[in-house]
Amino acid sequence: MTTLQVTVWRGDESGALQRYEVPRFESQTVLDVVTAIQRDIDATLAYRFSCRVGMCGSCAMTVNGVARWTCRTHVAKVAVDNRLELKPLANLPVIRDLVTDMREFFDKWARARGRLTPTRTRDDDFERIAPTAPGREAANAGIECIGCGVCYSSCDVVAWRPDYLGPAALNRAWTLVNDARDGAQGERLRAVAGDAGCHACHTHLSCTERCPKGISPTAGIAGLKRAVARAAWKGEL
Ligand code: SF4
Ligand code: SF4
Ligand code: FES
Repeated sequence: MTTLQVTVWRGDESGALQRYEVPRFESQTVLDVVTAIQRDIDATLAYRFSCRVGMCGSCAMTVNGVARWTCRTHVAKVAVDNRLELKPLANLPVIRDLVTDMREFFDKWARARGRLTPTRTRDDDFERIAPTAPGREAANAGIECIGCGVCYSSCDVVAWRPDYLGPAALNRAWTLVNDARDGAQGERLRAVAGDAGCHACHTHLSCTERCPKGISPTAGIAGLKRAVARAAWKGEL
């Protein structure tokens, strides 16, 4: 039987890599490998997953140096000479082993005003938005985000300045800037206009290259820069 040589981060920030030998199978995913270690070799290994089908965003890790969702990443695509190195996501505090603390990631969604502020009540009729409306199309391009943190972990600017809102929160803000139902546009543009907001993005594109859902946070951030400039020019900020 072919085996995989897998090194896995164990412990907190000051932990170390530990080596395991795992049977290799056809169509095996990286998440299958982690699960095999936890079930058959070392039950103390901590990791996070839920759906196993690319919907929940909880299984992201650093695989051979690159942030990826692991339930949809096949070993055959990423193993080099039958070797895998698995670490927790970068740019986030490590709780233990492959589990990171996602609080600051989601706190930044809140800082970017990443929630809908409705203008209608339950007594009003639904707002009708044509599928071809430009705002609807712009929002559609970013709406499938699963909050996996791959883009955030891949962003050099987040590494340099930890207060930067980051690609996922800014992508979320961009979907809402394009949402005709939302009533907090000025507040949201002010939230993303500061030093740690959209203007801190250096357009490195790592987020866009690595997003497993094919979203381009870079394009959304460029849209935010234009929207902030327009609002500033009109004296609305
Ligand atoms: S494009 Fe901007 S947000 Fe995306 S990785 Fe580069 S600096 Fe970060
Ligand atoms: S934008 Fe893509 S990479 Fe970033 S959190 Fe959403 S799904 Fe994950
Ligand atoms: S386990 Fe849900 S996206 Fe991977």
